[in-house]
Amino acid sequence: MEKTLIILKPDALQRGLAGRIISRFEDKGFQVLALKAMHVSRDLAEKHYAVHKAKPFYPRLMNYITSSPVIVMVVQAVGGIAIARKMMGATFGSQADPGTIRGDFGLSNSFNLIHGSDSPEAAETEIALYFKPDELLSYERGNEKWIYDCSGDTPE
Ligand code: RTP
Ligand code: MG
Repeated sequence: MEKTLIILKPDALQRGLAGRIISRFEDKGFQVLALKAMHVSRDLAEKHYAVHKAKPFYPRLMNYITSSPVIVMVVQAVGGIAIARKMMGATFGSQADPGTIRGDFGLSNSFNLIHGSDSPEAAETEIALYFKPDELLSYERGNEKWIYDCSGDTPE
């Protein structure tokens, strides 16, 4: 099982799309382990996007992510990091394929509705930035055996 950090960015909440985006992860079968609404501080935004500090779009990105509340969640699935990135689509709605979250809900080449961790290392770092360890739930789902074939050693 892989955990990934998903952020529904300010435009997702302002445009009333948060519920529909969360539903896509529920519909797919991801398990929600943590979820909260919050305002991203400048300090947190700088830590999260440290790799982009030298990029020309960095100041705009800082303003965007701190401009209005977000919903941040940890979801889990087998291969969940890559699956979530596929569901999100290409970085900007103008280029993202129809059927993806960004492709279906956005047009902007700056505002792009959602963040998802892009590697296991990034997921671990990002989850720790946004959640304390005791904020992550651990629970069994009643329908797990219909989401995965659980007849072997690992869910298939
Ligand atoms: P994210 O990290 O938010 O999941 O998005 P991503 O991997 O698809 O894109 P990334 O290259 O990591 O860029 C991080 C965020 O910076 C903003 N951005 N703006 N104006 C621009 O050229 C530009 N490029 C990137 C977006 O908000 C992007 O999600
Ligand atoms: Mg990225």
